[in-house]
Amino acid sequence: MKPREIVPDVLYVGAPDFDRRLFDSLIPLPDGTSYNSYLIRGRDKTALIDAVEPAKLHVLEAYLADVPKIDYLISNHTEQDHSGGIPWILGRYPGIELLSSQPAKPMLADHLGLDPARIRTVSDGERLDLGGKTLRFIYTPWVHWPETMSTYLEEDQILFSCDWFGSHIAQTGLFVDGVGCIMAEAKRYYAEIMMPFRKIIQKNLDKIKDLEIRLIAPSHGPIHRDPRSIIEAYRDWADDKPHNTVVIPWVSMHGSTALMVDRLVTALVERGVEVFPFNMASADIGQLAMALVDAATIVVAAPTVHVGPHPVIFNAVILANALRPKVRFASIVGSYGWAGMMVETIKSAMPNLKVELLPPVISKGLPKPADFEKIDALAEAIVGKHKELGLL
Ligand code: FEO
Repeated sequence: MKPREIVPDVLYVGAPDFDRRLFDSLIPLPDGTSYNSYLIRGRDKTALIDAVEPAKLHVLEAYLADVPKIDYLISNHTEQDHSGGIPWILGRYPGIELLSSQPAKPMLADHLGLDPARIRTVSDGERLDLGGKTLRFIYTPWVHWPETMSTYLEEDQILFSCDWFGSHIAQTGLFVDGVGCIMAEAKRYYAEIMMPFRKIIQKNLDKIKDLEIRLIAPSHGPIHRDPRSIIEAYRDWADDKPHNTVVIPWVSMHGSTALMVDRLVTALVERGVEVFPFNMASADIGQLAMALVDAATIVVAAPTVHVGPHPVIFNAVILANALRPKVRFASIVGSYGWAGMMVETIKSAMPNLKVELLPPVISKGLPKPADFEKIDALAEAIVGKHKELGLL
């Protein structure tokens, strides 16, 4: 296939991956993904940005079959879904110069076994003139690795952002088709890998706020023709203020915990709080991560197995602890047969959450009227806390 034009002399040479269903052997990909690479032709020089996932290298090879010379290979990000094709590119174009951020150089050597002597580092803000196409390198660390940079094409006002602003979508069209659809996918992607770094993302957003951006061309998913929408969405997701929402990851064995969760959901909804319950026996952890982006409160609900929490609930607890969402309040709901250490065990498994713990509600066997009253009191406490934050 011939390289596909985005704007004159800026060409798409990436690869959709319709069949991939899991990333990092962890993250569900309901809509596949893509590994985007871009070819930029100046009057004098040609540059390639990123080098696709090794499993799709044949797509890039086909795109480049009639491209006899590339002067620069720009590695915005070391993770192998964008750097895996670099060794092949270096072999195909022996005179090519590999450019990366300074922190990326040792990482490229470590992860790909490259000779560091083949890598020239560029500094933050440095420009590269291709002849009528000027690239500016902007360090944007921790989106989501420490070495990541973005590349800005000044004349065409295109930001090649790598992972941030991206989405796991496989499609043949180059551009976003429907802002509503892309926001859900982009939020899922943000939630899964960017959320732990939201403080640094705030700084990165400040860093690009004065750039004139006409297009954002990420390394996954379609190109944004409405860059302000996705930038504003990132501002909201990374912002410190949560929404008036509660996330309840739960699991139940014989129905006691499920009854308590039902009562809590009802009590919160009646009081004007939006609730996102997830039965962890079957939940999509990507959707759980998305709900955690905004939530002010998390309530973990589980029965006791032996003396500890049902092990399935740890999928949610460990994920929330790793993603460090902006939640401000937490509680624990559950049931036990004869004894248990559930509350202590769950609390100790989420040290990264800087939350105020609201009184847990644990019932012995089936919840009794007094237990449901405690659930109602928990809902009242959550509402009070949300009001204190001005969310309700
Ligand atoms: Fe798409 Fe961080 O790699």
